[in-house]
Amino acid sequence: MPRSEPTFDATAAVVLAAGQGKRMRSALPKVLHALAGAPLLEWVLDLCAELGLGHVHAVIGHGADAVRAALPDRGVDWVVQTEQRGTGHAVDQARPRWGDVERVLVLYGDVPLLSADAVRALAAAHEAGGGGISLLSAVLPDATGYGRILRDERDAVVAIVEERDATPAQRRIREFNSGIGLFDAALLAELLPQLSTDNEQGELYLTDTIGLAIAAGRPVRAVVVEPEQVLGVNSPADLAAMQRLAQARIQGRWIERGVRISDPSLTYIEHGAELAADVVVHPFSLIRRGARVAAGAEVGPFSHLREGADLAEGSAVGNFVEIKKTRLGKGSKAKHLSYLGDGDIGAGANIGAGTIFANYDGRAKHPTHVGDGAFIGSGTVLVAPVRIGDRAMTGAGAVVTRGHDVPDDGVVVGVPARPLPPRPTTLAEDA
Ligand code: UD1
Ligand code: MG
Repeated sequence: MPRSEPTFDATAAVVLAAGQGKRMRSALPKVLHALAGAPLLEWVLDLCAELGLGHVHAVIGHGADAVRAALPDRGVDWVVQTEQRGTGHAVDQARPRWGDVERVLVLYGDVPLLSADAVRALAAAHEAGGGGISLLSAVLPDATGYGRILRDERDAVVAIVEERDATPAQRRIREFNSGIGLFDAALLAELLPQLSTDNEQGELYLTDTIGLAIAAGRPVRAVVVEPEQVLGVNSPADLAAMQRLAQARIQGRWIERGVRISDPSLTYIEHGAELAADVVVHPFSLIRRGARVAAGAEVGPFSHLREGADLAEGSAVGNFVEIKKTRLGKGSKAKHLSYLGDGDIGAGANIGAGTIFANYDGRAKHPTHVGDGAFIGSGTVLVAPVRIGDRAMTGAGAVVTRGHDVPDDGVVVGVPARPLPPRPTTLAEDA
């Protein structure tokens, strides 16, 4: 019988995010640096949501106010650790808050690419091995900087030793501790008060719970995953290198769901964009978080879809078209050189090359409406707020000034645009 998926309703997550991240050389708290458009910590909170973790305690310290403000409405219990006295101390700050859960999952706010499957594998091993403590580890050719996993001759985990406290022989061990682990809550609560600062940094190390658990005869294990899963961000170079991995992760998911990406290495899709099956993305396009693209729409080459870009079924945007907070209706097209912001475009409309929605008057943003089947001539500027009716047309180079709405079926030309008088009947048509 297949084993059922582990559930996390009796599990609290504790996300460690109080560190300063000195090596980032930035005034921004480390966990707010963006990976594929989303703060590192948001990736971790999204993982918690994906796993169905209802109790999430995030331990913050450096830049706490900024962190809280950047991630509002997430249902997170923010725990402030005023002084960073080590990972054990950080988890201990959340101890009074997790209540009577059975397990505690410790995550890091600066390890954004951990997958739900890896956590499920950890939970399954925890269950199968009789609880206690389960860690995620990985193997690198050179694990310098990390805490190393010490195993006995039967391959059982016996301790974790931090780089600074390790002997030269221990430093040659390639299996390292990711820091991410699943703990029986009662055991963790029992062990945290026993931690000591007797180490090179004078900190309370969460990793010392391993030795203490083993001494108390409790089961401990490490589940080995791909290093990419547990990569942490410590420096600007780490973050830059991770952007490609994040793209592979994001685009891989969309490709699985039927999105066609001509060349993933030349495409950038942020965390939090939404695409549907049969969307085609041509190279050099940037689809940012908060953009939505419906089935069969075509994007690119060289398109920039920003927050609130909403492309309906079968619509198309082409080169050097930037769309922000604008709905592009079913089958509508904007193929060349346009800025479309704060707009609402109906179905079957054609937005000619070089069309600009002049949405900003220096003080406020204003809306532009373009009706179903409208034809916007090349080089048209629509000065918002303005409405262009259904099936209406603008001539090439028209500047439709604010409030000079064009009625349904109307035709305007010129600068400033004025209605085109009804066309005189020509001889040719007479004949
Ligand atoms: C820790 C582990 C190490 C592991 C490594 C993986 C310990 C003692 N060591 O080491 O075995 O290989 O992570 O990256 O746990 N934090 C707080 N409050 C604190 C201290 C840390 O919130 O008081 C947060 C940091 O912001 C960071 C995480 O905990 O997100 C890890 O802390 P860090 O100081 O980077 O630990 P390492 O020395 O890297
Ligand atoms: Mg670290």
